Amino acid sequence: MPRAYVLDTTLRDGEQTPGVSLTSEEKIEIAKKVSELGVDVIEAGFPISSEGEYQAVKKIASLGLGSKVAALARASRKDVELAVSAGVQRVHLFIATSDIHMKYKLNMTREEVLNAISEWAAYVRDRGLEVEFSAEDSTRSDRAFLMQAFKAAAGSGAKMLDIADTVGFASPQLMADLVVQIKKEIPGVGVSVHCHNDFGLATANTLSAIVAGADQFHGTINGIGERAGNVSIEEVAVGLKMLYGIETGIKFEKIYETSKLVEKLTGVQVSKNKPLVGDNAFGHESGIHTHGILSNPLTYEPISPELIGRKRWFMAGKHAGSHGIAAMLKEMGVQFSDKQLNEIVNQVKALGDKGKQVTDADLYAIASSVTGSSPKKLVDVGGMVSVTGVNVLPTTSIRLSFNEKVLESSSTGIGPVDASLKAIQKALEGTVTLYLREYSIQAVTGGSDSLAQVSVKVEDEAGHVASSTFTGSDIVMSSVEAMIDGINKLLLKRGNSL
Ligand code: KIV
Ligand code: ZN
Repeated sequence: MPRAYVLDTTLRDGEQTPGVSLTSEEKIEIAKKVSELGVDVIEAGFPISSEGEYQAVKKIASLGLGSKVAALARASRKDVELAVSAGVQRVHLFIATSDIHMKYKLNMTREEVLNAISEWAAYVRDRGLEVEFSAEDSTRSDRAFLMQAFKAAAGSGAKMLDIADTVGFASPQLMADLVVQIKKEIPGVGVSVHCHNDFGLATANTLSAIVAGADQFHGTINGIGERAGNVSIEEVAVGLKMLYGIETGIKFEKIYETSKLVEKLTGVQVSKNKPLVGDNAFGHESGIHTHGILSNPLTYEPISPELIGRKRWFMAGKHAGSHGIAAMLKEMGVQFSDKQLNEIVNQVKALGDKGKQVTDADLYAIASSVTGSSPKKLVDVGGMVSVTGVNVLPTTSIRLSFNEKVLESSSTGIGPVDASLKAIQKALEGTVTLYLREYSIQAVTGGSDSLAQVSVKVEDEAGHVASSTFTGSDIVMSSVEAMIDGINKLLLKRGNSL
């Protein structure tokens, strides 16, 4: 079975996403996670960029992770010496080879560029480290000169030659063509690709290169990176396997949790429709699709969500059909007759026609009014006190009732809402691990006595998701009510299996 190698540059090119700056601890947490995910090489950073960056690279290199650790360096003395001294196994050396970069950025002649490549590749090789060479802006470089640059790198010890599509200018055909030419003219070295997504082609370009014979690709988790980002590791790894039968070392079942960690630590929110890891990637609303999925998920899903650590979900809305709504109600533990189901579906569609998003909470409310039953509350608030003020750390103490047990806890937070939601999560620790995936608050009316509408989305460790909305005059209590309601729905979705 053919195998492609993965170089993860979330911590380097990913961190170059405008607005992203990771602390050393956050970098280490991500490095450990992507190593568990199974990437072959972690590009931990660009040591010359700051002292903190250098220290973080050094620390990551010393962790003894399963993945190799690489550091980025321009083909110049200071960069290379610093990268070598960081204790990494591989130095990722780069210099631009396109006329536009050499003239306007480097102010170097072709000959000077070739000399720099040979000198610094040899320097790294002579210190016993692996050399990977990237020709920056390869895809806009003069082809004959690009080949000269790659030959200079290989001749001075580079074992991996990387075609950098720096501004996402390549087509899948061009990438394949370049790979084939390098393989033919420079045998015995590995070929890698580094694709940016400016035209939305990063995944197609990377797949095309690997299929044409490239040995390695660079990518980031969630596709974060400069401008429109780098190629998403998860898309390429799953695409290679599913479409071409090509393996990587990526452990698919860890993809979603890795994506969530990177989203949380970088603050770059994954768009809802992002392939594989976006909220909607395994969500279904339309009646036709839901019906198909319920009879055989392969009808409308290319892979099973469990394969990458996710769960499918259904949404009630104007496109929904009775099969999907019945499945959602069953998941929530609601009993209903055919006639009641019909009425519930009509009410859901009527809400959808008014342009309203029908949340789990709305479906619950409709179902209980139609069936005359009130939904089962597994968790409830037995008591709570929340304190905030000047020179006081906002703190909440809470008592929850759960299955005839009493759970108590306290937490601080950046404000009373944060403290309260954290206190709830803490009280339930050991019973259910909860993640607050979304929180939003909206003032419904004007004035200081305005009603606050709080919406939350909670998820458990198994990927069950529930959303809820609560409107009230007290923002802390509305947040608590929305959270408790969301948790109750989540617990019902888990089949009361606690
Ligand atoms: O996009 C690019 O050219 C890079 C290089 C450093 C490889 O990130
Ligand atoms: Zn890049």
